[in-house]
Amino acid sequence: MEEKHGILKHLITFVVMWCAGLGVGAQQEDQTVFFNVEAGQPGRQIPSTLFGLFFEEINHAGAGGLWAELVSNRGFEAGGPNTPSNIDPWSPIGDEGSVLLVTDRSSLFDRNKVALRMEILCDSEGPNQCPAGGVGVYNPGYWGMNIEEGESYHIVLWVRSTGSVNLSISFTSSDGLQILAASNIIASSSEIQDWTKKEFILKATATDHSARLSLTSSNKGIVWLDQVSAMPVNTFKGHGCRKGLATMLADLKPAFIRFPGGCFVEGSWLRNAFPWSQSIGPWEERPGHFGDVWDYWTDDGLGFYEFLQLAEDLNTLPIWVFNNGISHNDEVSTSTILPFIQDILNGIEFARGPSNSTWGSVRAAMGHPDPFNLKYVAIGNEDCGKPYYRGNYIKFYYAIKTAYPDIQIISNCDGSSKSLDHPADLYDYHIYTSASNIFSMAHSFDNTARSGPKAFVSEYAVTGNDAGHGSLLAAIGEAGFLIGLETNSSDVVEMASYAPLFVNTNNRRWNPDAIVFDSWQQYGTPSYWVQHFFRESSGAVLLPVIIQENATSALIASAIRWNSLENGEDYIRVKAVNFGSSLLTLDISISGLPVGSISSSGSKITVLTSDNLMDENSFDKPEKIVPRATEIGNSGTDMNISLPPHSVTVLDLRLDHAMHSAI
Ligand code: AHR
Repeated sequence: MEEKHGILKHLITFVVMWCAGLGVGAQQEDQTVFFNVEAGQPGRQIPSTLFGLFFEEINHAGAGGLWAELVSNRGFEAGGPNTPSNIDPWSPIGDEGSVLLVTDRSSLFDRNKVALRMEILCDSEGPNQCPAGGVGVYNPGYWGMNIEEGESYHIVLWVRSTGSVNLSISFTSSDGLQILAASNIIASSSEIQDWTKKEFILKATATDHSARLSLTSSNKGIVWLDQVSAMPVNTFKGHGCRKGLATMLADLKPAFIRFPGGCFVEGSWLRNAFPWSQSIGPWEERPGHFGDVWDYWTDDGLGFYEFLQLAEDLNTLPIWVFNNGISHNDEVSTSTILPFIQDILNGIEFARGPSNSTWGSVRAAMGHPDPFNLKYVAIGNEDCGKPYYRGNYIKFYYAIKTAYPDIQIISNCDGSSKSLDHPADLYDYHIYTSASNIFSMAHSFDNTARSGPKAFVSEYAVTGNDAGHGSLLAAIGEAGFLIGLETNSSDVVEMASYAPLFVNTNNRRWNPDAIVFDSWQQYGTPSYWVQHFFRESSGAVLLPVIIQENATSALIASAIRWNSLENGEDYIRVKAVNFGSSLLTLDISISGLPVGSISSSGSKITVLTSDNLMDENSFDKPEKIVPRATEIGNSGTDMNISLPPHSVTVLDLRLDHAMHSAI
């Protein structure tokens, strides 16, 4: 190698990064850069936990998103516990003279007493005859319900009446004119005088992406309604998550999922923080809560149990971020924190206690007698600087370690530049910045102490002008950063996840996000697709590399050896980010392998790029910027690959089986 090029730096490193002073638009000369992968060396083990997901209930990520429930405010609780209250987004069908809607506190369910009292003032005949189709109430869901021809929907509602009832339940178009599916509840007064659960399947005969659920009658009388649910029968692994969205998560092969937030966990005020214990049990009994940081109500259908179930269904590790008595505006002092600690110990017991334990039995009753695999918890979110954080943290830490010594505990305090002053297994690290900053931050953990708690980069993203709603520029900056994290992963960085994960395009509270959706469609931003380049990294081997000394500062490159679970084959993967505006050629040589180790077939090159830096994907062009793979037939130990301007390029070289014993 040295003889061949004569200009290689004699430094073996695991990544190539010359990025100081790099400007995004900086002109470079087209350049060929020599790059050697020391494939014969043992390399360093990348943690199996490295790349995962962070789910936050933000941007209607869960309610009106990942959680497939179609009805919004299904228990009529969103208007508050005092009645009469606003029932938004429920709305009347019919005018004031024909239907009267009001809430009262007559619900069967103790923790959510509000129910809807619907008085039908018109009748099936006579002077005040109801209009055709009847009058009543409808729910538009979250900016329209996605009803698809041939699909089945599970309807559940609680109903009572002082008289007999003939109620039509239907999915209709948003103007109510086209019926997509319908059924009737017909009951005598004796059958329905007490709260009665009604459930049935509606099968749609037509498709409408902005449909609504209507409950109507043409019979004079009073009907009370509560806990009205409409769920697609076809959900991810049958556990209630929207299939298309959950599949996009599964496609990332995440090593973990951190949940349920972020600021969502903290609340602007403690009274609005995520209440894990009220988010479990039968869904009808959950009070729901107002997430006051991101400013919307959630019925908590996607509760603590469902998060744990989702982690299991994604075959990944759950990481529970819990509130440690601190919100954005109020705190519980360390001297009075004990009940909060007990509440969290209860939560851990719910997740992983035996099925005959107090809280484990609640989980078992919900259908999961076996413990969930909860091994990581984070004490708070971004609370390190708050007055009671350290005091509260220490109390939580020892209480959890005493009861569950194997649980890994994550502190909110940054340990990357100086040692923590308290015990922790990991520390949380969040970074939102410009593209050039994050690209140069590939180095940020280079000088971190190699002993002590490991970093959990649980929120990273390019934000601001560079990012728009998810630009190519943001994605390539992040790709450089991730290569840096991967390089430092064996001894400093243990986990990393992009944030936020989801945005419902009707409620953009935070830009950008990895996955954009509306009622029926979804696409990944370039930042989502960059994560695909790293999904094989968790548990792979980082190989030492050598790079030409005067290489451009716009290049970051690295190499791993990984094994495919799909076909059992081993590969060497070279990842290269060209952050500059000129074409680069990477002159790759793989050294240290027996002759013939690289198969001549089964290798491929995959590129993520676009014509313009600020290009984005959209519902119209969801695949404008996605990885594009090309099979290569002439692979070997010496190859030249082109790195287009502003691109991420991955070369996967399939290793011949003969090589297995050699490395
Ligand atoms: O990811 C969005 C928000 O950014 C998170 O809620 C918070 O942890 C961070 O400030």
